[in-house]
Amino acid sequence: DSPRLVDRLGRVATDLRVSLTDRCNLRCTYCMPAEGLDWLPKPDLLTDAELTRLIAIAVTRLGVTDVRFTGGEPLLRPGLADVLAATAALEPRPRLSMTTNGVGLARRARRLAAAGLDRVNISLDTLDPARFHALTRRDRLADVLAGLSAARGAGLTPVKVNSVLMRGVNEDEAVPLLRFCLAHGYQLRFIEQMPLDPQHGWDRADMVTAGEILAALRAEFELTPEPGERGGAPAERWVVDGGPAVVGVIASVTRPFCAACDRTRLTADGQVRNCLFSRSETDLRALLRGGASDEEVAERWRANAWAKAAGHGINDAGFHQPDRPMSAIGG
Ligand code: GTP
Ligand code: 5AD
Ligand code: SF4
Repeated sequence: DSPRLVDRLGRVATDLRVSLTDRCNLRCTYCMPAEGLDWLPKPDLLTDAELTRLIAIAVTRLGVTDVRFTGGEPLLRPGLADVLAATAALEPRPRLSMTTNGVGLARRARRLAAAGLDRVNISLDTLDPARFHALTRRDRLADVLAGLSAARGAGLTPVKVNSVLMRGVNEDEAVPLLRFCLAHGYQLRFIEQMPLDPQHGWDRADMVTAGEILAALRAEFELTPEPGERGGAPAERWVVDGGPAVVGVIASVTRPFCAACDRTRLTADGQVRNCLFSRSETDLRALLRGGASDEEVAERWRANAWAKAAGHGINDAGFHQPDRPMSAIGG
């Protein structure tokens, strides 16, 4: 038996993505309806102690080297700084990152960095305040821009920006978003929209593809493929105008990277998933609350990893979306 999280195809999961809450303070139209979703009931959520124990098992018994905190919106978790500090205290210390919408980050960036956070990825789909308001249903663009700048100031670098372009909504912003990120020293990545929305409104024809995005950028910039190994990274990267800046495209749908996937996921209610799109989960919360030992938990986590499918199947006939929306899985 391998102690690590290996699957039957030989992939090894070393990157743990932890969802700290399914709640969010924005309402991006492609992610949630205006009224929000049916949030997970409080008793189902892992406590900070349970969460910290599971992360420790992943790092010390299962070979996880990178821990990313996601949501929903991870800044909404009251114990965030404590969970970060407990994770940073593990041996060997994992690298710690967070994916956030940036709202409220400005006044917390320094404290989170002090707790052990190494870097952040911040979502920003538009630079236009009215569009931002329409897209997220909240008038918070200024907060997000302040969060970006505070993250850079606190050394949470490289600060990465995640943008989802949508046809007829913000597809004309590829070039302005890149100019903005180049000017401020943020690393921009464009993300192809995936079928993970609770409204089941995803339509392949509305998805702005990596090919279209690159064509739009090439009209204004010289892009050359970044040399070196990509590893398990979802983003393919290009050097912009000779460098040093790079731009990335996360082309989950048109150029899937599942064959190199190095991820395992933990939801806020204690379920392990071996893929964003997996059809089944392993209930570690029940094991913990039933008194299982660390090694028993680790063994169930390994079994979950072993069963990982070859790919997400979005492009296959008969594909159907996971039951959980993206906000309850962890992006
Ligand atoms: P770094 O490059 O290490 O900063 O991480 P990342 O790009 O994986 O992290 P982030 O949370 O910013 O993810 C950006 C986007 O990549 C997510 O919103 C997803 O759209 C996509 N993504 C992340 N993980 C996966 C995955 O396992 N499968 C697929 N298909 N897409 C993923
Ligand atoms: N497809 C691709 N990316 C998505 N995000 C949210 N929903 C989707 C989707 N259906 C993005 C957010 C954020 C990141 C965590 O995931 O815009 O940048
Ligand atoms: Fe919140 Fe992210 Fe969903 Fe937007 S995409 S509503 S920021 S969880």
